[in-house]
Amino acid sequence: MQEVSETLRRQGRRVGLVPTMGYLHEGHLSLVRKAKEMADVVVVSIFVNPTQFGPKEDFGRYPRDFERDKALLAQESTDITFFPEVSEMYPEGYSTYVEVRGLGDHLCGLQREGHFVGVATVVAKLFNIVRPHVAIFGEKDYQQLKIIERMARDLNMGVDVVGFPIVREPDGLAMSSRNVYLSADERASALLIQKAIKRVEEAFRGGERKAATLSEEARSVLGSHEGVAVEYVALCDAETLDDLQEIDKRALMAVAVRIGKTRLIDNTTLTES
Ligand code: PAJ
Repeated sequence: MQEVSETLRRQGRRVGLVPTMGYLHEGHLSLVRKAKEMADVVVVSIFVNPTQFGPKEDFGRYPRDFERDKALLAQESTDITFFPEVSEMYPEGYSTYVEVRGLGDHLCGLQREGHFVGVATVVAKLFNIVRPHVAIFGEKDYQQLKIIERMARDLNMGVDVVGFPIVREPDGLAMSSRNVYLSADERASALLIQKAIKRVEEAFRGGERKAATLSEEARSVLGSHEGVAVEYVALCDAETLDDLQEIDKRALMAVAVRIGKTRLIDNTTLTES
């Protein structure tokens, strides 16, 4: 992969990377289309990264269907699919990890210990292997996007990190590879996430600026169904992810819930229009 990328770079071609864990959906594919607009050659990586899953998390049962992914990428005329093995990415004796301080100590970082070290490490490796000029990430994983932006800047990686808006199902549920875990009932309860976000956006538009009140609005929607366990509802600075008391700058409202065994996240940004 490094050799291919070096050759492309010598030819003056711009390389774009879309890192994924596969089981592709329309969210991933829109990142691929965005990459095609921004680069001459698009590389999509598919790698279910073990270092970003906690010991009790779903690494083993994470959905995988490489043949289907390949067919979807062929339809998008992706130039290169990079799909390393775990033993190639983390051979025996592997010892180096990347920690982005500060940004990881919020939201999902508090619930998923070590998760963002795993993410930053694998993305740093993918950047070094694929050597892209530009890499596209979804705002669905907003904290991940901010961490990768910071890492690329701090470590002078020379990669332009670009964010892309959340792609949703027609009824508003954010697309996710994990949505396949949901039973029909759970899938219906998952709609409360979007309802809670809409409720907060409305209250914000109506002039409410108190984080505690906005958060209460969301919790009252999510708490209305016993099958939905709220992990967090956060209102924070959209750049630093520090908690806000008053929404007096561009803010992120982020939600994580557990529905049955499935953990789902979603978010929206609140700005003065
Ligand atoms: P994965 O969950 O497969 O997501 C790959 C990329 O697709 C991420 O940038 C994610 O934010 C984006 N994405 C997922 N669902 C989306 C949606 N509904 N709308 C827009 N973008 C969406 O995120 C990962 O994999 C991994 O952590 C990875 C970065 C590949 C490192 O292992």
